[in-house]
Amino acid sequence: MEEWTLNQIQGDVLRVPSAVLFLIAVAKDKSMTDEQLLGLARVAAARAYAPYSNFHVGCAIESVDGKVVTGANMENACYRLGVCAEQSALTTAQHQFGLDKIARIAVVGGSGGMICTPCGGCRQAILEAAQLSGRDVEILCGSGDGSAVEHHRIGQLIPFGFGPANLDGSGPT
Ligand code: THU
Repeated sequence: MEEWTLNQIQGDVLRVPSAVLFLIAVAKDKSMTDEQLLGLARVAAARAYAPYSNFHVGCAIESVDGKVVTGANMENACYRLGVCAEQSALTTAQHQFGLDKIARIAVVGGSGGMICTPCGGCRQAILEAAQLSGRDVEILCGSGDGSAVEHHRIGQLIPFGFGPANLDGSGPT
C-alpha cells in the first residue's frame, strides 16, 4: 500500500478525504508543522455547510500527543442555530482525547487574504479547554487563500476571561 507523507497530503490537499487525513495524523502520532495543521483546517473548510453566509471556516485541533481532529461551520435555515468550525472541532476533540489535552488550534476561513480569527463565543469555548489544562493554547489564524497567517495565544485573544478557574471551587472536579 502506498504510504502518504504529510507533505504529499498537503500538496494534494483537496483530493484527500478529511477522514483519511485524520487517521494518518493519528497514526503518525507526532506534532505537525504550522503549515500542515493549517492545511488540515483548509481541508475541513472545504467541507463546511455554509449556504447562507457562504463563509467557509475550518478548524484543526492538535493534542499534546500529536493527535488531530477537525471541524467546519454548519449553518441552519434557522440562522441562529449555526455552529462555528471551532465549536464543531472542540466537540470532537473532547470525544477523541479530552479538552484538557489540546495544545494547538488552527482556524482558516473565507476565500480572500483576510485572516480568520475565532469569534467571541469560540474564544470562550477555547478558554474553557485552556483553563482545564493551565495551558495558554496556541491559535494559528489563516486567511482562506493561504497568503496570511497570525500566531496568537488564547490569553491574548480573550484577556481577563471568565472560565472554570474563576468558579472558585465549583468548577469541574
Ligand atoms: N464562523 C466560524 O465558524 N468561526 C468563527 O470563529 C467565525 C465565524 C462561521 C459562522 C458562520 O457560519 C460564518 O462563519 C459567518 O459568520
